[in-house]
Amino acid sequence: MARETWATRLGFILAAVGSAVGLGNIWRFPWQTAENGGSAFLVVYLGIVLLVGVPGLLGEFVIGRRAKKSPVGALRDLSGSKKWGVVGAFSVITGISLLSFYSVVGGWILRYLLESGVSVVAGNPAYFANPGQYFGGVSAGADAALYHLLFLGLTALIVFGGVRKGIELGTKVMMPAVLVLLVGLAAWAATQPNAAAGYAFFLRFDPSVLSENFFAILGPAAGQALFTLSLGAGTMITYASYLDEDRSLPFDGSAIAVLNTSVGVITGLVVFPLLFSQGINPTETGTGPGALFVGLAGAFSQLPAGTLIATAFFAVVTLAALSSSISMLEIPVAFLVDEYDISRKQAVLGMTGLVAVTGTVCAFNPSIFGFVAGTLVNVLLTAGLAAFLLFVGWVMGREAVDELTAGGGPVAKALATPWLFGAGVVLPLFLVFTLLTHFGVDASLGFWPTVGISVLASAIAFVGLRRPDSVV
Ligand code: ALA
Repeated sequence: MARETWATRLGFILAAVGSAVGLGNIWRFPWQTAENGGSAFLVVYLGIVLLVGVPGLLGEFVIGRRAKKSPVGALRDLSGSKKWGVVGAFSVITGISLLSFYSVVGGWILRYLLESGVSVVAGNPAYFANPGQYFGGVSAGADAALYHLLFLGLTALIVFGGVRKGIELGTKVMMPAVLVLLVGLAAWAATQPNAAAGYAFFLRFDPSVLSENFFAILGPAAGQALFTLSLGAGTMITYASYLDEDRSLPFDGSAIAVLNTSVGVITGLVVFPLLFSQGINPTETGTGPGALFVGLAGAFSQLPAGTLIATAFFAVVTLAALSSSISMLEIPVAFLVDEYDISRKQAVLGMTGLVAVTGTVCAFNPSIFGFVAGTLVNVLLTAGLAAFLLFVGWVMGREAVDELTAGGGPVAKALATPWLFGAGVVLPLFLVFTLLTHFGVDASLGFWPTVGISVLASAIAFVGLRRPDSVV
């Protein structure tokens, strides 16, 4: 059977933006910003998106478009070694892990959307009365599992439609809707009393907060940048495997990063003025995944037309979450279709069945949920991106440069060699360091010993992977 492709260039860009824009921007970004120093976090995060995110995106694009396969087959075929296929198999595990917790959060959002939507015509949503208690009651257990299954079902329906009629069509509808609704909400939030305090918290940059907390901010900011750009799981390898050679990857990659970051920033322009207008300081509402939820729901409950605003907000979040969850399901689905030649229908059914179970486990067990959503996903994404970039730099080498420049203009040509050096040497080093911080190595051994271990581990990888014709 002929491999599917995107129908249009815009279709690919919107699908990749759809994958990137999701709960990471809307649910995780404001919460991470609030916990990690406000604008100082924003600055470090933006720097990492530019210096690590964009080259990382290009790395995954180059692998996917060159091989026209999902990660397992791509790494195996391009290297000619089954061992790299095993490395690629981690992306299947990462995709399933991501979707297992993501679908639970997607379920919470879907529930809030339905609850708010129904209440537009009939009274106040139930969560208005006591947002904290409400969230506590629905965020785990049978309720959470039921909505997780609903959300997963919607995800599966879209992926079922295939690359063009499912993912491309779905994101072409969802992404413009997300943008329009979000910009409308940001404009409305600007009219709220005390909105200026929200902007100040989010945007007023204090260099001393940055210099005093730089290393504490680095790990969360890197984790957030990878998560939000859907990097390290092989999503972008899979999406790029449906691309033709005639597109400029640097252009597409930059457009995707800019659009994704803009959505994150616009979300901040909705959330922070809204919270501050209701006297809610996000750094004081406690920490954790539910904090912002409770804070926002509290703010909606105090606003005139709060139910309508809440419905619009949760509609944005649901669409954004769906356009990301489909990319997570597509990783294992593409793996089954590519490697075992089974139909998309069977692959979607099989993988949805599996995630129905793993997600239900997360829904019933908050500590497993916390582990999967936090440490596991951070580690898998960071290690995954490091492996992909080492592959690009040391296994593909010159072939990666050829692929990056195919379809690109003079800018792509000028950037190709520095990019390859960054991808093969600088970024893996940075990612290994970040990985060690996730394990608390810097906290127990100190900063410089951690740098030393990162350099040593990277050097071992470089020597082990180097081929005679490697350009790095
Ligand atoms: N990139 C996706 C998000 O930000 C996972 O939600």
